[in-house]
Amino acid sequence: MLTDLASIARTCQNERTGLGAFNVIHLENATMFIDAATRAGRPVVLQISENAVKYHGSLAPIGTGTLVAARAARVPVVVHLDHAESVDLVHEAVELGFTSVMYDGSKLPDDVNRATTAEVVDFCHAAGVTVEAELGEVGGKNGVHDPSVRTDPGDAAAFVGDTGVDLLAVAVGSSHAMVTRTAALDTDLIRAIAAAAPVPLVLHGSSGVSDAGMSAAIGAGMVKINVSTHLNRIFTGSVRETLAANPDLVDSRKWFKPAGEKAGAEAERLLRLYAHG
Ligand code: G3H
Ligand code: ZN
Repeated sequence: MLTDLASIARTCQNERTGLGAFNVIHLENATMFIDAATRAGRPVVLQISENAVKYHGSLAPIGTGTLVAARAARVPVVVHLDHAESVDLVHEAVELGFTSVMYDGSKLPDDVNRATTAEVVDFCHAAGVTVEAELGEVGGKNGVHDPSVRTDPGDAAAFVGDTGVDLLAVAVGSSHAMVTRTAALDTDLIRAIAAAAPVPLVLHGSSGVSDAGMSAAIGAGMVKINVSTHLNRIFTGSVRETLAANPDLVDSRKWFKPAGEKAGAEAERLLRLYAHG
């Protein structure tokens, strides 16, 4: 069933469990991750990034397909717009029926980020849509790894108060697009931000975090766990193996299906791991 993010994230926050949020790049990812969530008996966030929208050329085809799959699911599924820097794209997602958006003004001057985020919150809340925002830019989106940026707990609390966001993405040691699980998270800082800011916290760039590091982060108060590269790496690794072993293969379903099954199995494993906090 299609669900809003705020209520599910609140439940996870109260239970001290993590909520897996996986990126839909191709439509097959939506069914793959819904099947994984169904097997794990967990809710899941399917997120479509502004970058994925640029790849597809528009939001509607992949967004609508993902919404249809979410409505048919037997577990709660959030359809979320990820890393939107364009306010117009936020409006389009809300009109399509997305139940959550991340407005990413983290590259803007602080006062502009606050003012624009507050406007996005007003618009989205009027439509019953959850808003996530980011304070302290998590690096790696442009290929530059910078795990050194940190979100200050007092700033986080003030930002939530100024903007009214429902979830807050924070910089605590992760970095986007890591292909090794070697990031060292600042668990004490997560605990301090969770105590200062009243909303569920979001970890971007979770591909670089080990299982043990993630369990510690969830125990410290991290709630929404965004993973893309790690699952994409497993998917593409399988494609490479299948094509190397079958050089005459031409039917794309023959390499897509096993790759999807492997990535789906890992998504299921992660959802079960996050459930234990
Ligand atoms: O917003 C999406 C994520 O932060 C995913 O990051 O590709 O490093 O796992 P990742
Ligand atoms: Zn991210």
